[in-house]
Amino acid sequence: MARFTLPRDLYHGKGSLEVLKTFKGERAIICVGGGAMKRFGFLDRAVAYLQEAGFEVQLFEGIEPDPSVETVMRGAAAMLEFKPDWIIAMGGGSPIDAAKAMWIKYEYPECTFEDMCKVFGIPELRKKARFCAISSTSGTATEVTAFSIITDYSKGIKYPIADFEITPDVAIVDPDLAETMPKKLVAHTGMDAMTHAVEAYVSTANCDYSDPLAIHAIEMIMQDLVPSYNGDMAARDRMHNAQCLAGMAFSNALLGIVHSMAHKTGAAFADYGAHIIHGAANAMYLPKVVAYNAKDPVALKRYGVMVDYMGIADKSASDEDKVKALIAYLRKMNDDLNIPHCIKNYGLDSYPCENGFVPEDVFLARLPEIAKNAIGDACTGSNPRIPTQEEMENLLKCCYYDTEVDF
Ligand SMILES: NC(=O)c1ccc[n+]([C@@H]2O[C@H](COP(=O)([O-])OP(=O)(O)OC[C@H]3O[C@@H](n4cnc5c(N)ncnc54)[C@H](O)[C@@H]3O)[C@@H](O)[C@H]2O)c1
Ligand SMILES: [Zn+2]
Repeated sequence: MARFTLPRDLYHGKGSLEVLKTFKGERAIICVGGGAMKRFGFLDRAVAYLQEAGFEVQLFEGIEPDPSVETVMRGAAAMLEFKPDWIIAMGGGSPIDAAKAMWIKYEYPECTFEDMCKVFGIPELRKKARFCAISSTSGTATEVTAFSIITDYSKGIKYPIADFEITPDVAIVDPDLAETMPKKLVAHTGMDAMTHAVEAYVSTANCDYSDPLAIHAIEMIMQDLVPSYNGDMAARDRMHNAQCLAGMAFSNALLGIVHSMAHKTGAAFADYGAHIIHGAANAMYLPKVVAYNAKDPVALKRYGVMVDYMGIADKSASDEDKVKALIAYLRKMNDDLNIPHCIKNYGLDSYPCENGFVPEDVFLARLPEIAKNAIGDACTGSNPRIPTQEEMENLLKCCYYDTEVDF
């Protein structure tokens, strides 16, 4: 038996934020990030709509990008005091993910962060509150997924919390919110979405319900991501739907080792001044992992089908040649979006540069530990191939130096 779970309601289209007016309840807490939602007036609108619906509203503001365990605990404490019956999370993946983890701790105050990280081990939620997610970036699709990514900064590791219990009750996918994204955010979140769709399609947990979502998302992202990056707002609006479709696919079909590697490298060099931003990490690692996974005959065939849908190679070409076309296509997208091809060329500002912020000796010294952690990541289990320690180290080296994957 397999399970396919999505939010019960999804409101989409311009102006759909207004649906908050129709919510029923007494107390709503709105969880937001560093200020973008406030600056562009969306937070005030959400507060006004909820007050119109009769809610007492409290704000939990300032959730940082790549939220920490400490932020989750602070938010849960605020919820325990205010006792909301609706949690409204608004913004990018970071505030929404943090709010999901706060929700668990609010409903089960004795639950520790370690308990939360047990895959599909969350107790039944919704005894105290329901959850609405309103996304302002076009990538993570956390508004429809069963995942939350929280960073343990004492270890420099991102931990995925995974359970259908944390799939939101309501998702609001209003493209107005995505229109204010700066270019770099469009690029990174868009390639995150592309990675979700590609990984979900070849995941060992793929199914008839997730496949069409993944394929349609890929077709839309191909058409709309680069124009959105270049300022086409109609394309920007469509990307908001495309990333959500990719999320519906991967929330149910799961992901693969591109995400395992992104989770375990993201904060691993924070002491050298930056994170490798999630979407940028995915964009750099995806072509490498496609080459690695294509050695698996089932994955090879599925990449072939994907390429047929994408229309980027002759249908009569061999699957091996189709994989080459896919890799070239993904690399071209990175070029068009000003994303580097490897960690060595990943600058402090995330743009391509000669000498990136991760020094070679530091990378090599930390490599065995990072590889071990990546193998242990919750996303590894559904990848078409399960890498050995040696393979994972070699794969990460290819991602550092931009060398070809031939194993
Ligand atoms: N839960 C999931 O299923 C899932 C999937 C993929 C990634 N993630 C996680 O999500 C996080 C990344 O989320 P993200 O990429 O959405 O970025 P983010 O939430 O970290 O936001 C990045 C920055 O963009 C700003 N911002 C957000 N929306 C904006 C807008 N509309 N206009 C202007 N500025 C805006 C924020 O204030 C912040 O400074 C990572 O921690 C990643 O690991 C989660
Ligand atoms: Zn992702």
